[in-house]
Amino acid sequence: MASKQHDLVIIGGGPGGYVAALRAAQLGIDTACVELEERLGGTCLRVGCIPSKALLESSEQYANARDGLLAHGISCASVKLDLAKLMQRKDGIVAELTKGIDGLFKKNKIARYLGRAEITAPGVVSVDGDETVEITAKHILIATGSTPAAVPGVKLDGTLIGDSTLGLSFDRVPERLVVIGAGYIGMELGSVWQRLGSQVIVLEYLDRILPGTDSEIAREALRLFRKQGLDIRLQSRVTGVQTLGKGAKASCLVELDGGEPVACDRVLVVVGRQPNTAGLGLANVGVRTNERGFIQVDAQYATSVPGIYAVGDVIGGMMLAHKASHEGIACVETLAGGHGHVSYDAIPAVVYTEPEIASVGATEDALKTAGREYRKGVFMFRASGRAKALNQTEGRVKVLADAATDRLLGVHILGPRAGELIAECAMALEFGATAEDLARTCHAHPTLSEVVMEAALAAGSGAIHG
Ligand code: NAI
Repeated sequence: MASKQHDLVIIGGGPGGYVAALRAAQLGIDTACVELEERLGGTCLRVGCIPSKALLESSEQYANARDGLLAHGISCASVKLDLAKLMQRKDGIVAELTKGIDGLFKKNKIARYLGRAEITAPGVVSVDGDETVEITAKHILIATGSTPAAVPGVKLDGTLIGDSTLGLSFDRVPERLVVIGAGYIGMELGSVWQRLGSQVIVLEYLDRILPGTDSEIAREALRLFRKQGLDIRLQSRVTGVQTLGKGAKASCLVELDGGEPVACDRVLVVVGRQPNTAGLGLANVGVRTNERGFIQVDAQYATSVPGIYAVGDVIGGMMLAHKASHEGIACVETLAGGHGHVSYDAIPAVVYTEPEIASVGATEDALKTAGREYRKGVFMFRASGRAKALNQTEGRVKVLADAATDRLLGVHILGPRAGELIAECAMALEFGATAEDLARTCHAHPTLSEVVMEAALAAGSGAIHG
């Protein structure tokens, strides 16, 4: 067995781990990263954010060419879909970006170990790859992310019934696709296949979609998604899936807790994600987890065992790539003797549907529950000249500010390019801005960002065009 030594060994090469590795190396820490998969980048890059955005973009272009351009006076006589090429483009983007991380690792002299890591003792990680390597390190950072959660009674076969990874790689457009779960993933993947021609039925256990997002925004989004043709059925708890027939004729029957079973030819199970801690050796050293299996950390990301840290999905909270990256940076900056910090109240979240949904800070529901006095400003995209030019006039911006101090508490956007518009709102929250600060910042005309400005005005002295 080979032995190696480093200052810091990071377990996991996703947005938490690889970003932490880069920052640590830049700060002069001798850093190693252990990753099980050949390609760095984790779920986000290989089978999550990046490939899904590639498919969302392609499918939106296709749907636009087929239906959307008519409104602009452009008709495309015969729009054809080449699914294989569409998938190749997605795979190409993933390949290029993962190679980019390899390049950054080399440039920053980060040691890369390919294999499964297990913490065998404090300061000792054993890597089971082509050969077994034992790494000793002063610090260990766990950034192993999460894996898809299961529905009791539903067995995935990876062909007819699968998780989000299957939903990124169908080799033909399913005729009837059932998506179990109306969360971020369900709404994004459901949108992709609906635009590409599938009849999509989304079965959601709760009485709303997108749990965690502002409920007023989620209600409006539900109306728009239904208008687009997504068959979203709320209060539908899936209890099992039966497979009928074999080979090309095989199909599925999705069983519900009450109500008629739903027949379809493919099923995607996207009901949340759980921490990835199996086989990590947490019990060998006594790293504490909570009742849901997430690793417990303090404000500096230290676990219950000295010298062992954890960031990203594996510690819970918002399961977002950028949250993991920021935690990774904060953790290693503290290790290097600096001060690492993540502003959890200013982390933006984006659902890349059409229209997009983006938010930062507190939801109105959370403010009501907390009994907080707030002011609310709303402005609709239909009043924006730029939105009209784009022919994307659905949606709104909602600004929430403290009733006494006017300090921004949250911004919620449903509308065109919401994912880009939220950036200035996140910065405003990070800087402790008031709604008036946002309202008095000069926004270029005509841009979609004026809708943010008008909503901020509406939270105070009133919108100009309202
Ligand atoms: P989620 O937790 O957002 O939604 C899962 C949904 O499944 C919930 O609404 C839940 O009520 C429902 N559900 C659970 N059991 C069910 C059953 N038996 N029958 C019917 N419905 C059931 O989880 P999702 O969409 O899988 O996303 C996982 C994580 O990944 C999220 O935390 C999300 O933040 C992150 N993500 C972020 C994206 C982004 O930033 N654009 C994109 C995709 C995922």
